[in-house]
Amino acid sequence: MPLAASGTLVSRAADAGTAVAAFNVITLEHVEAVVGGAEAAGSPVILQVSENAVLFRGGRLLPLARAAAAVAEQAAVPVALHLDHVQSDELLRQAADAGFSSVMYDAARLPYGENLAATHAAADWAHAQGLWIEAELGEVGGKAEAGGVAPPLSAHAPAARTDPEEARAFVAGTGVDALAVAIGSTHAMTRRTAALDHELLGRLGPAAGVPLVLHGSSGVPDDELRAAVTGGIAKVNIGTALNVAMTTAIREFLAAHPDAVDCRPYLASARTAMTEAVARLIGVVSAAP
Ligand code: G3H
Ligand code: ZN
Repeated sequence: MPLAASGTLVSRAADAGTAVAAFNVITLEHVEAVVGGAEAAGSPVILQVSENAVLFRGGRLLPLARAAAAVAEQAAVPVALHLDHVQSDELLRQAADAGFSSVMYDAARLPYGENLAATHAAADWAHAQGLWIEAELGEVGGKAEAGGVAPPLSAHAPAARTDPEEARAFVAGTGVDALAVAIGSTHAMTRRTAALDHELLGRLGPAAGVPLVLHGSSGVPDDELRAAVTGGIAKVNIGTALNVAMTTAIREFLAAHPDAVDCRPYLASARTAMTEAVARLIGVVSAAP
């Protein structure tokens, strides 16, 4: 089927009181696993390509974007493409032509006023292209910089959390379609130990007035994810969990087959492990309330 629109998938999930899962993809095996897992779950899904994934490919967006679109267009469930954590205006401007229906513009590292101004300009441009746009207020820490080093800020620190009154003013002042909120999750966690601030989430939904997005969801336990969706999260971003599944499967395969040289058997086991992780996580976040 043709590519779905991220905004439509998020709105439908929000209206139904559930969430759409959005998975970060790096390789073709990630893409196939996300679509295969969504088909197994019988649910729509969002394929995300982050700016860091583009930098991993030498700054080239199209190779992975076209592969993702080709797999998505053959899927039995609706699949949308989302350009994630975009800091570069040059990359932002490639989104629509590369098949993306949405972007997450990430100026959360900037002071509030600069974040607002930059995001407002990005939203105006995105809307003129027909793109749905998400932005971040507060700061979900732990995201690797281009060099692969995570910044010291932790979103477990209350100072990094999203303030409801700022969220209200930020959405009104920028015109964004969805807001990524810092409520206790942290990017790149390999253990699922994050505790979310559900009281804060309960105040952010009415204040923001747009669907809310949870980043760093790999470190959030199932019961916390379910409670976050019940509390108003409509898009759940997951990346590291797939890399944990992939790398664990490859490590186990190579330990059992130390003389292996053909990459296909271990990439196949990695893809299967990621597919199972995707289907399971979609079941957690997109279950009917
Ligand atoms: O935007 C992407 C997500 O926030 C992924 O975070 O890798 O910690 O699951 P994660
Ligand atoms: Zn994120």
